[in-house]
Amino acid sequence: MNGGQADGRLAVVTGAGSGIGAAISLELARRGFVVVPTDLDGPAAARTADRCDSPASYRLDVTDQESLDQAVRLLKSQHGPPSVWVSNAGVSKMQPFLDITPADLDFTLGVNLRGLFLAGQAAARLMVEAGAGGCIVNIASMAGKQGRVPFLADYVASKFGVVGLTQAMAFELAAHGIRVNSVCPGYVATSMQERELAWEAGLRQTSVEAVRALYMADTPMRRIETPEDVARVVAFLASEDAAFVTGEAVAVNGGAFMD
Ligand SMILES: NC(=O)c1ccc[n+]([C@@H]2O[C@H](COP(=O)([O-])OP(=O)(O)OC[C@H]3O[C@@H](n4cnc5c(N)ncnc54)[C@H](O)[C@@H]3O)[C@@H](O)[C@H]2O)c1
Repeated sequence: MNGGQADGRLAVVTGAGSGIGAAISLELARRGFVVVPTDLDGPAAARTADRCDSPASYRLDVTDQESLDQAVRLLKSQHGPPSVWVSNAGVSKMQPFLDITPADLDFTLGVNLRGLFLAGQAAARLMVEAGAGGCIVNIASMAGKQGRVPFLADYVASKFGVVGLTQAMAFELAAHGIRVNSVCPGYVATSMQERELAWEAGLRQTSVEAVRALYMADTPMRRIETPEDVARVVAFLASEDAAFVTGEAVAVNGGAFMD
């Protein structure tokens, strides 16, 4: 379905092969964007592209500058500059703070913060060159606003970084008519959550169902968040309704953390 509100403007989504990124791609397509889903997993990005009637999808590793440069070249030659860029690619691994190795730390920061930084530069360069403004949405987390999160210290560090980086980008890019915001989801039912449920059940020596119940008990609205809950807020930020919103970190978590 094509909602038409976006009049075929281009939107690029990273990590769009599954979970939240796939839902964002579908929601933006539904609202009339031409969506180019990208992912480290090229076939997964292509599956999302099929569901969005997209003209293309790219294999894009946000940690790899050459991969980003290639995506920029392809976008320029085949589709033109994006109006909207959603940096959603992210990773997590649950373990106690004292067990996180330097390699684990580099990996998490490398995808979630450095990768998002480099992707943001690529997006902003395309938008600045085109001179038509734009909108960048960075997917942070509830764990980008509070560190009272078990077994995710490296992830917390990366997501606090995303919230700060979003403000710095918003501040500098406003002069080019580019808005930059982050979105902070709570407990979202995706493959990342499935992995976290299993890790946390092991670390707490309890069951996956008991951990899921903890997530729900921690959420005043008493349900697990859906990828679509996040996608609709991203679509709002990408819309003209949010024309004067920039530098924000929008919580979408059913009340699990209020600041
Ligand atoms: N699921 C949650 O509860 C939750 C909560 C808050 C924030 N988030 C954030 O939402 C985003 C999406 O998470 P999700 O739950 O959909 O996870 P997911 O694991 O289902 O999807 C993540 C996608 O990112 C891709 N990816 C991983 N490394 C990449 C790289 N280097 N370059 C490009 N793509 C890469 C994966 O292939 C995958 O398709 C992440 O940034 C995550 O931190 C998730």
